[in-house]
Amino acid sequence: MSPSGTGVWAVVVAAGRGERFRGDRPKAFANLAGRPLLAESLERLDASPWIEALVVVAPVEWEEPAILLAEELGAGSVRAVVPGGATRADSVRTGLAEVPDEAAVVLVHDAARPLVPEEVVERVVTGLADGWDGAVPAVPLADTVKRAEGETVTATVEREGLYGAQTPQAFAADVLRRALAGGDDATDCAGLVEAAGGRVRLVEGDRRLLKVTTPADLALVEALLRAAG
Ligand code: C5P
Repeated sequence: MSPSGTGVWAVVVAAGRGERFRGDRPKAFANLAGRPLLAESLERLDASPWIEALVVVAPVEWEEPAILLAEELGAGSVRAVVPGGATRADSVRTGLAEVPDEAAVVLVHDAARPLVPEEVVERVVTGLADGWDGAVPAVPLADTVKRAEGETVTATVEREGLYGAQTPQAFAADVLRRALAGGDDATDCAGLVEAAGGRVRLVEGDRRLLKVTTPADLALVEALLRAAG
C-alpha cells in the first residue's frame, strides 16, 4: 500500500470529560504549550500523507471551538466535527458514521495522546497488509505488574508478553463497523475487534505517545515537545 489516494480515514476522539484531569474545560482543550491539546494530534494527522481525511469527535458543546481550531490550523483534511457520546465506543461510533463506505481503512486516535510520530501512523497502516483486521501500536511494559485487592498485593503478574496498547489503531473499516455494532465493553477499539473474532496484530509503538490523564502528564508532554524543538 502506498500513501497516494489512500482510502484511509482517521477518527480523532476528543470527547472525554477528563474526570481525572479536573480542569475548567474538557481535557482536549487543556493548554499544551499555548494551544489546545487537540491541536497537536490534529495537526500531525492532517500532515500525514497516509491519511486522506479526518473526523473529529468533540466534547458536547465544544464542536464550534473544534471547527475553529481546525480552521486556524489549516487542517484541510478535516471533513466533519461531531459531538461525542457517553462512552469512548459511542464516540467512535458517532465518528465512524461520518466515514464514507468507500474508505477501506479507519484509524482511531485518542486526542489525549498528542505526540503522534509519523512513523507510527505508517506502521499501523502498512501493518494491515496480509489480511490483518487491526494493527495496534504497543510498547513492552517496563514496570513490574502487581495485582491487588485494595492495597493488598495478591499476585505479581509475569511481565513477559505484556504490552501497553496505544493509538492510533488501524482497522479494516468493515471489521471495525461490525465490531462497534456488537459491543461496548472495551477500553480500546482493538478490544472490540478482538471480541468480535478479528485478527489484531501489534506493531512497534512509541513511548512519546503517552496518554495525558493528569496535569503531570501534560507537563511531561510539554517538556518532550519543547525538547523536540
Ligand atoms: O478517558 P480516556 O482518557 O481513557 O479517553 C481516551 C480518549 O477517548 C480521549 O481522547 C477522550 O477524549 C476520548 N473519549 C471520547 N468520548 C468519551 C470518552 C472518551 O471521545 N465518552
